[in-house]
Amino acid sequence: MTSAPTPDMTPAEAESVYFNNYPPPKSLPKHEALARAFVDYHVQANRRLVLVTSGGTTVPLENQTVRFIDNFSAGTRGAVSAEYFLQQGYAVIFLHRQFSLLPYSRHYSHSTNCFLDFMDEEPVPDVEGASESDHRPIVVRSEYQDQMRDVLRKYRYAKRNNLLLLLPFTTISEYLFELRSLAQLMRPLGSNALFYLAAAVSDFFIPSDRMSEHKIQSSELPEHLSQGQATDGSDIYTGGLEAQQPSRSKRLVIDLDPVPKFLHRLVDGWAPDGSMVVSFKLETDPNLLVYKAQTALRRYAHHLVIGNLLTTRKWEVVFVTPDAPHERWIRVPKSRRSKSISGSEAQVGLAEAKRAGDSASGETSGGQQGEKTTSEGVEIESLIIPELVLLHSNMIAKHSPQ
Ligand code: PMT
Repeated sequence: MTSAPTPDMTPAEAESVYFNNYPPPKSLPKHEALARAFVDYHVQANRRLVLVTSGGTTVPLENQTVRFIDNFSAGTRGAVSAEYFLQQGYAVIFLHRQFSLLPYSRHYSHSTNCFLDFMDEEPVPDVEGASESDHRPIVVRSEYQDQMRDVLRKYRYAKRNNLLLLLPFTTISEYLFELRSLAQLMRPLGSNALFYLAAAVSDFFIPSDRMSEHKIQSSELPEHLSQGQATDGSDIYTGGLEAQQPSRSKRLVIDLDPVPKFLHRLVDGWAPDGSMVVSFKLETDPNLLVYKAQTALRRYAHHLVIGNLLTTRKWEVVFVTPDAPHERWIRVPKSRRSKSISGSEAQVGLAEAKRAGDSASGETSGGQQGEKTTSEGVEIESLIIPELVLLHSNMIAKHSPQ
């Protein structure tokens, strides 16, 4: 029997083939216990709860993984959005790629905002007899006090009130197991449940029956040691000797299968009745964005696709919905956009203009409700989340008994 779902299978068949061929992640039972208690707690409080997925998934090339395929996502969208959901009174399960950005601590994270730059030793008091000591307390530098107090208070509030559950994953298979379990555990929430799928999920993977157990060798092994290493072209790792090369290096040819799209199963099977499902669509070609978002909405019959372009995702997104207006752009006004090294402001408005004929509307802004300006500019999630909360409120109202 194949270990990879095929295109002719129903979504339910694809589900059972996929999940029967992978061992569940070791951390799943612990995560399920934490999630069950978290969901129960918020069901009792009749609180809304959002599952935010965040960061990229890896695709291992070996069972005992040395190498893997990854993607660009840092988890910014997910981490920032989680903060705004908490601000709106939601409880948040934050299903995130391990070591990607986290709500609150993302303000002081490794590469962009090194936390050490925010700290100092307390100055020596300017009084007689005071001396330079080896034990001066560490303090937050004065220019960061207000911002850090604000972040710290929000973080502590979320922790004290059991509003934030952090659950990590690494591989695509871990992500899918976790997503399925969490969605099923969220059933008692009914329409109070919201799914906000911002993770950049791998589209391709290596099925378990074609996965190398050990580290793939980059050079030829003697016959008696090469058991289990692929040597012929029928395997995914072909890597024969390069004829002209004087070295004994091999080429690595990787043959990936499509990951089944489980959005179908989430919407139709795993998620609670009446819950709201929001997926993201990322594209790099402005011509494709709206079309791909509409196609996803039609195919999976969920409630909202938020489309974004790689180069403009910090400043604009498009809400694609089944109901009018069907396509709505949310943008940070030009004067309030943060700088982004990887972004390209010149592309703002392109994905909309391409469709509408020519009327680039890159300067229009989204709703202002709840928006927050930081020294780096307005975070677009401060515009997205309040809009989304309104849509969720409408759905909840539709499902409540009259
Ligand atoms: O983390 P950042 O650096 O801030 O970047 C944020 C982001 C650009 C990653 C985010 O805003 C975003 O767009 N995420 C979705 C990326 C995407 O286009 O995914 P997709 O087209 O592969 O999948 C679309 C949807 O289908 C996703 O919501 C996903 O949950 C779902 N999916 C995907 C693959 C799969 N096998 N099954 C699925 O159900």
